[in-house]
Amino acid sequence: MHRHKKLLITIVVVVTLLIAGAMIWFAKRDANAPAQTTTAKRGPIAALIDFVTHPFGQSNTPKPPAFDKTQYSLDDPASLWVVVNKQRSLPSGYIPASLRQPNIAVRSSGSSEMLVRDDAASALESLVAAAKQDGISLMLVSGYRSYGLQEQVYGGNVSREGQASADKTSARPGHSEHQTGIAMDLGDPNGVCQLETCFGETTAGKWLAAHAHEYGFIIRYQNGKEGIVGYTYEPWHLRYVGPALATELYKSGQTMEEFFGLPAAPSY
Ligand code: DAL
Ligand code: ZN
Repeated sequence: MHRHKKLLITIVVVVTLLIAGAMIWFAKRDANAPAQTTTAKRGPIAALIDFVTHPFGQSNTPKPPAFDKTQYSLDDPASLWVVVNKQRSLPSGYIPASLRQPNIAVRSSGSSEMLVRDDAASALESLVAAAKQDGISLMLVSGYRSYGLQEQVYGGNVSREGQASADKTSARPGHSEHQTGIAMDLGDPNGVCQLETCFGETTAGKWLAAHAHEYGFIIRYQNGKEGIVGYTYEPWHLRYVGPALATELYKSGQTMEEFFGLPAAPSY
């Protein structure tokens, strides 16, 4: 054998052993490392080790746990995830505990309609502060509405426009999310596009659509989902569900009904 050939073979063997050794060392180190709880990206070396140590498809890369859709009740009126729609009502006497007026601009200070349940009020304060950082002012237009107040609101709409029209935008008493204390209408403090579809085109409306989920809120009545949620597009109506579910719904573009496999609720 030529000296050159011998040298080449020796180099190849040594390099192969070095690479194999490094891979085994990396694999052992990964195996001993605490389990990752996030979906943090792993680099090309980890991917290569995955391939070498599990060539038949098993992976060292931890999978994010599946979202647990049973964490909270969908039926309990006080639940963070309660689903209220034209097919799912609240008891007429249900009044949420720990209502308070959030420390933000409100349309009518001191009115019971400016109350919000404590958990949602705190989240709302964070959301409004973050919006302010981005140069956007928001005001609470309507928060908690008792069964009796919803009777007045809905009754007024029926008187003005008739029941068929009112049902497209206004819930019958016992069917309004506002009675939970964790739904609210927001608006521009100057009243621009207040409770009008054009609110969705304002900078405030666009900011809410992009960021509300970060604070635990969803835009409950999305454009194009009338046949499922039962109401026309309301870019101003926020529902507090907590950041985990809000983010799932934001990412998937689904309504609560779709996400939880509940029947569509276009009518009563
Ligand atoms: N505008 C919403 C649907 C309500 O009346 O609760
Ligand atoms: Zn509303």
